Amino acid sequence: MSEFSDDFGLAYIDSCDQLTVLCIHGFPFSSAMWEPQVEDLSGVARVIAPDLRGHGRSEAAPGPYSMGMLAEDCAGLLDYLGIENPVVVCGLSMGGYVAFEFYRRYPERVAGLILASTRAKPDSDEGKAGRDAAIEKAKTQGVTAVAADMLPKLFSPQTYDEDSELVEFVEEMMEGTSLEGMTGALQAMKDRPDSTPTLAEIDVPTLIIHGADDQIIPLTEARAMQAAIKDAELIVIPDAGHLPNLEQIDAFSDAVIDFVDSLTEDDHDHDHDDHEH
Ligand code: MLT
Repeated sequence: MSEFSDDFGLAYIDSCDQLTVLCIHGFPFSSAMWEPQVEDLSGVARVIAPDLRGHGRSEAAPGPYSMGMLAEDCAGLLDYLGIENPVVVCGLSMGGYVAFEFYRRYPERVAGLILASTRAKPDSDEGKAGRDAAIEKAKTQGVTAVAADMLPKLFSPQTYDEDSELVEFVEEMMEGTSLEGMTGALQAMKDRPDSTPTLAEIDVPTLIIHGADDQIIPLTEARAMQAAIKDAELIVIPDAGHLPNLEQIDAFSDAVIDFVDSLTEDDHDHDHDDHEH
């Protein structure tokens, strides 16, 4: 937040010079999954959370989709909003796959990365076969059938047993995905490139967040990313599965707030240095 301008001579508050955090949802969710963080980050950062094509309230654009397309959609949204300064890109699961693609295409637009519940590796052969089976199931039995298969695996066993309101919220969010969005995203995930070589190239501050009980992407994947990205920090959230931002809201939001604070403090340090030189 800007509080004083030497150039202009009047003090002022401008919340729009806050760092932007671009929150990219996972599969098959929507921006609704970021509602707690939109609230928790208000006053700290500007949060932009798109519904990826075919998801949430965005148009059910016909496939095929690719990670490149999803990353371009995100860049297009930032352009549309006139956001030219580098942003923090926060991607959860499939959103992380998009974040890697965004970083490869637009490293200069990225101030920091938050990689939540995600992995760098591409799909294994078995994983690819699973995508084909899910595409077939979505086409023949509908998106609700795929959502029903995923639902119990998305949470820690404790969340699943005890937080029926959250489980229902996530189920409804998944069922709001269009058939085009679901099959397009499954195809894009199946075809996504290996992001492992990207890890060594990342030279922005990076925070990795992972639920200790993630049944979809094991914690070992997060540890592997941490080992390969220079100076990356890993926060493991206890009692959380694949959706730590919803299962342990405070722990997740606090981690993001601390990360954003560390980036803005760095900015102030640089400003200070500039004045001294
Ligand atoms: C997601 O949550 O985005 C997906 O489960 C990720 C995946 O299937 O690879």
